[in-house]
Amino acid sequence: MRQLTLACDTFRALAHNLTDFTADYLERLPQLPSYPPKISGQQTEHLFAGEIPLEGLGAAAFDSLNEVFEHSRPASPRFFGYVFGSGEPIGALGDFAASVLHQNATAWRSAPAAITIERTVVRWLANAVGCDGFTGSLTLGGSSANLMGLCMAREAKAPANLTGVRGGVIYCSTEAHMSIPKAAALLGLGHDAVRFVAVDEAFRMLTEDLRRAILLDLRNGKVPVAVVATAGTTATGSIDPLIAIADICNEFGLWLHVDGAYGALASLAIPDAFQGLARADSLSLDPHKWLYQPTGCGCLLYSDAAAAHRAFAHSGEYARALSDDPIEGFAFFEESMELSRPFRALKLWLSLRYYGLRAFQESIKEDLRLARVLADSIDAEPKLERLAPVALSAVCFRFVGCSGDIDALNQSILSQVVRRGRVYISNAMIGSSFALRACVVNHRTTEEDVQFVVSEVLAAADDLSGQKQPGEG
Ligand SMILES: Cc1ncc(COP(=O)(O)O)c(C=O)c1O
Repeated sequence: MRQLTLACDTFRALAHNLTDFTADYLERLPQLPSYPPKISGQQTEHLFAGEIPLEGLGAAAFDSLNEVFEHSRPASPRFFGYVFGSGEPIGALGDFAASVLHQNATAWRSAPAAITIERTVVRWLANAVGCDGFTGSLTLGGSSANLMGLCMAREAKAPANLTGVRGGVIYCSTEAHMSIPKAAALLGLGHDAVRFVAVDEAFRMLTEDLRRAILLDLRNGKVPVAVVATAGTTATGSIDPLIAIADICNEFGLWLHVDGAYGALASLAIPDAFQGLARADSLSLDPHKWLYQPTGCGCLLYSDAAAAHRAFAHSGEYARALSDDPIEGFAFFEESMELSRPFRALKLWLSLRYYGLRAFQESIKEDLRLARVLADSIDAEPKLERLAPVALSAVCFRFVGCSGDIDALNQSILSQVVRRGRVYISNAMIGSSFALRACVVNHRTTEEDVQFVVSEVLAAADDLSGQKQPGEG
């Protein structure tokens, strides 16, 4: 027998140990520092950059998990960085079960239950965000969903799969996520083919500027392909005017891709803020953000599956479905850039069935409320200045309690806040100002947790002023 054969009893014992270990960790999670204390690159290299062992360690291999967990940023209730969900544990159990089951979610004939469940979950998501009738697939995340959405757009408006890329222009606002120019680069259109349209005072795309940019390109013989509207920009959570943008796309025959990776799932809680979403040709969502799923769960929805086929169907004979049945002949690889695909839907399916949609709606509502609570505390503190309206759950602000280089001071405050380990926040540029940014996409967060943001920023500023040498400004 090969050494790689694991006895079932050994698997059972290891899995029991791992369950206990992870459950203990979850129990301690609320008390853990929001960032591992005194961590350094040298230390992590020392611990984890060793050579591959020729002989196996057996169960002792698991001993290092303790160090892995200790040197990782916890999914703390006081984590407010970037746009990153909180990792709901039923989803983690789903990932575990999916790995043991080891399906390849390519096509129904390879993974009958997995494919059916993924199509079901995608339908649930489409209905939940008011896009009934849309289909799609789960992706690695929002960036890959944006790439696939724009690939569909390019193939629909400036086909390139057969003969190569011959131009094409994409429009988005100056607030769009970095994955949009990255997608333009990967699709062979190039960064220069992205027009960054200016935004209003609430960081929403100015549609008159969009129209002017399209007309200018048309006059110059360019081929406008797609407009990317952002439903929840990364920095401030602003929602572009979806209906007005959809009207412009109609007028000029352009593809409308909505990047809803951060925000679109908030339509479960505040649907009125997302009117026009269903007019998208393609829409990115990120269940690993605002459905709190373990990392690696994005989604691309689209209104016309034939457009996905035109972009992605390049089947080899070895993969042919061998069935005309609409269920049994279905293949995700005909509608996706992926062939081998994990059973991503299992975690989401388990999680949604375990808690029910209403629990997610309520949790997102609570995140939105807590962001308002935080904004109010910032507004009430004279040493802090809020830098942007709070459209969803991202709050951008800065410390203004002393004179000098405010941007440099706030950068130091951010580092000090993270070092103190009580809350984790990140940063953004608001106009030309460096902003501290707290984003609540976290099912563990309480009102007490968000109140730590203000007190920790003030305490960090105090720490820094205490460190100054006499005579410093
Ligand atoms: C608006 C927006 N789009 C796309 C992404 C990229 O998503 P992912 O990190 O899942 O690739 C993000 C990430 O924060 C985002 O905020």
